[in-house]
Amino acid sequence: MAKEGVDMTEETEYMIDRNAGKEAVNVESPSNAKEMRAVVLAGFGGLNKLRVTKKAMPEPQDGEVKIRVKACGLNFLDLMVRQGNIDNPPKTPLVPGFECCGIVESVAENTHGFEIGDRVMAFMNYNAWAEVVCTPVDFVYKMPDDMTFTEAAAFSLNFVAAYMMLFEVASLREGMSVLVHSAGGAVGQAVAQLCSTVPNVTVFGIASCFKHTSIKDSVTHLFDRNADYIQEVKKISPDGVDIVLDCLCGENTGKSLSLLKPLGTYILYGASNMVTGETKSFFSFAKSWWQVEKVNPIKLYEENKVIAGFSLLNLLFKQGGCNLVKSAMDKLLILYEQKKIRPVVDSLWALEEVKEAMQRIHDRGNIGKLILDVEKSPTPLMANDSTETSEAGEEEEEPEGDNDSKERMPFIH
Ligand SMILES: NC(=O)c1ccc[n+]([C@@H]2O[C@H](COP(=O)([O-])OP(=O)(O)OC[C@H]3O[C@@H](n4cnc5c(N)ncnc54)[C@H](OP(=O)(O)O)[C@@H]3O)[C@@H](O)[C@H]2O)c1
Repeated sequence: MAKEGVDMTEETEYMIDRNAGKEAVNVESPSNAKEMRAVVLAGFGGLNKLRVTKKAMPEPQDGEVKIRVKACGLNFLDLMVRQGNIDNPPKTPLVPGFECCGIVESVAENTHGFEIGDRVMAFMNYNAWAEVVCTPVDFVYKMPDDMTFTEAAAFSLNFVAAYMMLFEVASLREGMSVLVHSAGGAVGQAVAQLCSTVPNVTVFGIASCFKHTSIKDSVTHLFDRNADYIQEVKKISPDGVDIVLDCLCGENTGKSLSLLKPLGTYILYGASNMVTGETKSFFSFAKSWWQVEKVNPIKLYEENKVIAGFSLLNLLFKQGGCNLVKSAMDKLLILYEQKKIRPVVDSLWALEEVKEAMQRIHDRGNIGKLILDVEKSPTPLMANDSTETSEAGEEEEEPEGDNDSKERMPFIH
């Protein structure tokens, strides 16, 4: 049976404290709401499969806390989930989202260490994009006092993934070199910041050209994603690099392995190349799969190379790795408190703006993280520009009939 917050009821509200530059929590009034808003993915496919609807209010089970959500992280993986571009996709309809933050509103039994009113961030195995979530405390972490909800929503997945890959899989040490794709993205920026916590690490970043001015100071060398990065890296470092972080897959696997120094580590942690159009492309999937270098362990032995894979969500939700993740999170929170790392936020969107937010990441427009701000009102629609780029065969099912040729402008952080 959950313990309800006495004074934590109807809506938990927050205001931006402009002077302090961070959120002040203003908890008010009783709530016995039976419903809450959530983003729902009706089926795999294009943007038209997403909508905001009312769902039954969840209640925490043994070992779970109930969180009044303030903000959620939107990741490239959410785009792949929407398309059904993942292994063993779950059944739809579903509520997407793998991370959120907010205030603990009630606690069930066996939730030692957590209290009503705690400001927390959490990993979710789906269901994060909602006003209220319930989740086991194994996946919940207390936020530092000076961390804003926007920062918290941009923190967990990117920084934990980047930390575990760099320090636990690849053993990053002083003087090493790291190559990272999508360097301007949320994980890319977390990788760059974490590398800067180790002396004398050289970071080769690859990103779309228009991001270069904004992110050039976060890496040592920056290349256009359309350039021949093998040649560019070898001009600077003929022996190659110690670590390659590859979230693209396909032809990059072979290229990356060829760039590794002896005892270097290649980590595959994503398959962004599989995303081409708005919906899943079997051609892109097959091409990416076909282009992956078939790895021969004997060749690895002869060349002294390490090849690895990393999936944070599988580690957390399928492989019982929550203690490993907790230990990484503890170290990251120390770095945050020492002001050595700080999430880069691209833009904030209302739940109702989830399609536009997803379109932005699909269009490679983001620098840093996209956030769904649960308490943000949708920005008024602007006429004559459309981000609704349904592919042939996809019917737009948007209920608000006259919105087809309008778009919302993001709130850029
Ligand atoms: N294994 C794990 O535990 C784990 C955890 C988190 C994220 N990931 C993976 O890490 C990668 C980055 O994730 P993120 O959430 O931080 O996203 P992100 O990098 O913030 O955003 C996407 C960026 O990826 C680049 N990109 C590469 N291929 C693309 C494509 N086909 N379509 C659109 N953009 C493409 C674009 O940057 P440029 O144009 O500048 O290249 C784009 O701005 C993804 O592959 C994701 O699945 C893995």
